[in-house]
Amino acid sequence: MSGNLDDVKNRVISCVNCGLSKSRTNAVPGHGNKNSDVIFVGEAPGKNEDLKGQPFVGTAGQILSEALEHAGFERENVYITNVVKCRPPNNRQPLTEERIACRPYLSEELDIIKPKIVCILGNTAYRSLLDGSEITKNRGKIVKSNGQLYFVTVHPAAVIYNPGLRQVLKDDFVLLAKSLDKLRKGLDIEISQ
Ligand code: URA
Ligand code: SF4
Repeated sequence: MSGNLDDVKNRVISCVNCGLSKSRTNAVPGHGNKNSDVIFVGEAPGKNEDLKGQPFVGTAGQILSEALEHAGFERENVYITNVVKCRPPNNRQPLTEERIACRPYLSEELDIIKPKIVCILGNTAYRSLLDGSEITKNRGKIVKSNGQLYFVTVHPAAVIYNPGLRQVLKDDFVLLAKSLDKLRKGLDIEISQ
């Protein structure tokens, strides 16, 4: 049975299924248009997200917004979420057990929204959704797994440490937008592997 997103959101907000519930200010449910045909999946909330209870509202969020706009996406028209919904202390990477504890919420979001493409932002989402270790081989490509299409790109926060990735992210989003456009028109797209 597929529930509804408000229900998922309410359960996330009060969730105590892993240790991150103890250190968070706010849990951060996914946010955006439930009719979007693309979902963007990041790693976990950072400081600003934890304070506001919304995904990608800090520096990484600005970089994400800029790249979305560049490719013609309207931020409020897409759906944005994270693998882990509560901030890990000091922004450390989520532990495997935290990823596993939080995974059902992401699965529910995907089941309800049924996007044409899931856009994986960085290694944590890649690991969680495709069981991969490192995005390099598939970056900028569409892959199919269990009947779902995924587009793989860098995490917006990686741009902060590696400015050259800003253009990579923008170019990748343009490719993603083109692929979505083709899918909407029922045309074939190139799938890697
Ligand atoms: N980084 C993420 O992965 N997600 C956010 O929501 C913010 C920063
Ligand atoms: Fe629950 Fe996920 Fe937050 Fe852990 S990170 S408390 S599983 S919502």
